[in-house]
Amino acid sequence: MKQPLRFGLIGHKFMGKAHSQALHDVSFFFEARFEPVRAVLCGLEDDLPEAAARYGWQRWTHSWREVVADPEIDVVVIATPGNTHCEIAIAAAEAGRHVICEKPLALDAEQAARMCKAVERAGVKHLVNFNYRRVPAVQLARQLIEQGRLGEIYYFRGTYWQDWPLDPAFPFVWRFDKAIAGAGSMADKGSHLVDLALYLVGDIVEVAATTEIFVRERPAPEGAARRVTTDDAAAFLARFRSGAIGLFGTSRMSAGHKNALGFEVNGSRGSLIFDLERLNELQVYFVGDDRAARGFRTIMVTEPVHRYVDRWWPPGHVLGWEHTFIHQYYEFLHALETDTLPSPNFHDGLKVQRVLDAVEQAVAEKRWIGVPEGT
Ligand SMILES: NC(=O)c1ccc[n+]([C@@H]2O[C@H](COP(=O)([O-])OP(=O)(O)OC[C@H]3O[C@@H](n4cnc5c(N)ncnc54)[C@H](O)[C@@H]3O)[C@@H](O)[C@H]2O)c1
Repeated sequence: MKQPLRFGLIGHKFMGKAHSQALHDVSFFFEARFEPVRAVLCGLEDDLPEAAARYGWQRWTHSWREVVADPEIDVVVIATPGNTHCEIAIAAAEAGRHVICEKPLALDAEQAARMCKAVERAGVKHLVNFNYRRVPAVQLARQLIEQGRLGEIYYFRGTYWQDWPLDPAFPFVWRFDKAIAGAGSMADKGSHLVDLALYLVGDIVEVAATTEIFVRERPAPEGAARRVTTDDAAAFLARFRSGAIGLFGTSRMSAGHKNALGFEVNGSRGSLIFDLERLNELQVYFVGDDRAARGFRTIMVTEPVHRYVDRWWPPGHVLGWEHTFIHQYYEFLHALETDTLPSPNFHDGLKVQRVLDAVEQAVAEKRWIGVPEGT
């Protein structure tokens, strides 16, 4: 008999939908001792009751404090804008709930550190949703690097392009407001890239960076135009502790690109290339291959030997973006079952935040900035 695990999900829009689906599907495809129960959905807008009914939630409330205080709730999932993460996560931990939080973990490293302290003090499990770690092809990339198949890592290049607000008439939303979002493409998109870089190549020790806002005012729904205070695009350089160097680019103004996260890793014995818009594939090049036939080749990462894939479909029956959320929940449930810390957790979120803070300081001071050590 499976043990029910009652979830409270705060945020019912884009991420609310993705988390709801993952909670619905995870125990269908993955074995776990716990059975997620979609107990209470929370959000501010009037369509909340309709969303709760459609996504299979038992109850709904407009108050996140009610969710956190509810003694029935085992796990609080935070899928709200960045300025709310810290307060909700700390309150949830203090109430004894396990906490899953959307990325970036917080507005800055100071908040992220307080969140880490709170979950540690409470002894609850914690996870930050850097879901792209959970793409089978990214898992294969990590495995190949760990096995030394790429040799010594020299270079990480990560880029993340979107174009949703390319039209200057696109209205003002919370992602344009620094007080709510913390930063723009640099943190929204860059946090995923930095997490992947740390996951694949290791700690970043210093950064140099520049950012730009191309459209400085946006029409506000309430009438007058509002000033945009978060970056539209960023470019930064990084040095890893290992001696590798990194090159990062993020933009929400890259015409034609919808959700183009990609990275390339070059080492002394090979390279690999990943493109989220072709997420079932990983391109690899190995120096050791027969010279006449050597070249980049594309691995279809849909074999049962690839991580997570054996729970899904036969080879070639491809996976999509939403599967990363399901894999993340599987990792979380598995960590609860084995009483281990899930990954990526709040400490990983804090590390990313330290890099992002350094990027912001590097932009302001126009110089290289060291990234503080620690977890
Ligand atoms: N992992 C990913 O790939 C990914 C993708 C998109 C967004 N995100 C992150 O998810 C979070 C949410 O982004 P989104 O795109 O779903 O935003 P959204 O605007 O679509 O939804 C925000 C939700 O938060 C709710 N909300 C806001 N303030 C609240 C409050 N005080 N109390 C209760 N509910 C509140 C809103 O009602 C809404 O339901 C952000 O941190 C964002 O960076 C992650």
